[in-house]
Amino acid sequence: MNWKETIQAIEKSVKDKFSREATGHDWHHIDRVRKNALIIAEKEGGDLIITELAALLHDIDDHKFNGGDWEAGTRKAKQILEEHQVPEQASIHICQIIGKVSFKGANVLSVPDSIEGKSVQDADRLDAIGAIGIARAFAYGGNKNRMIYDPTEEIVLHESREDYFNAGSHTINHFYEKLLLLKDTMNTPTGKQMAASRHAFMEQFLKQFYDEWDTK
Ligand code: ADP
Ligand code: NI
Repeated sequence: MNWKETIQAIEKSVKDKFSREATGHDWHHIDRVRKNALIIAEKEGGDLIITELAALLHDIDDHKFNGGDWEAGTRKAKQILEEHQVPEQASIHICQIIGKVSFKGANVLSVPDSIEGKSVQDADRLDAIGAIGIARAFAYGGNKNRMIYDPTEEIVLHESREDYFNAGSHTINHFYEKLLLLKDTMNTPTGKQMAASRHAFMEQFLKQFYDEWDTK
C-alpha cells in the first residue's frame, strides 16, 4: 500500500465531514492539530504516519458530543481505517490514541502511552490556548449564547468537562477552569516549549481585557 495516497484519501473524507462545522471543531482545527502533532512527533522521534492519521481522526465523532458515548469516535475511526486498508497493527495503535485523546469524562487525565499519542494530545491542547484558543473559546461561548464576561459572577472552577460544557458561565470563566491549566498538562518537552508563549499571550490578553473593562 501507498501511505501517501492513503493519508490523502483519509484527509479528504475527514475534510468533507468537517467542512460544515463552525463551532471550533472545524476542518482547520484538525489541520492545525495535524501540523503541530507532526512538528512535535518529529522532534520527539515518533512515527509520522501514525501521528498524522491519529491527528486527522482525533475528533471524528467528538464534535457531536453525543450523550457521553466516548467510544463512538474510536469506532468510526476504525471503520475509516478499515475502508482504506490500513494494516490492523497500525489501526489498533491509532484507535488507542484516539480513545485516550478524545476521552474527557469526569476530569480524569487520560494520557496516551506512545510518543505519537502524546504528540497528538499536546497538539490538540496547543490549539485550545494562545490566540487561536482565545478565538475558539469565544466562538464556543457565543454559540452557547454565553456572555463574554460578567464581573458580578464569581469565577467557578467546574470539576469536569461535562460540568463546564453545561454550566452557564461567561467565557472568561473558562480560562480559569481550563485554558490557563493546559500548559502544565503538556506531555512532551517540545509541546511544553510550544505552549509557553501561547500561555504568556493569554495572560497578557486577560490583563488587557480587565484594563479595558475597568477604564474610567
Ligand atoms: P478538543 O476536543 O479540541 O480538545 P473541546 O471539545 O473540549 O476541545 O472544546 C473545543 C473548543 O471549545 C476548545 O477550544 C475549548 O477550549 C472550547 N470550549 C470548551 N468548553 C468551553 C466553555 N465552557 N467555554 C468556552 N470555550 C469552551
Ligand atoms: Ni481536537
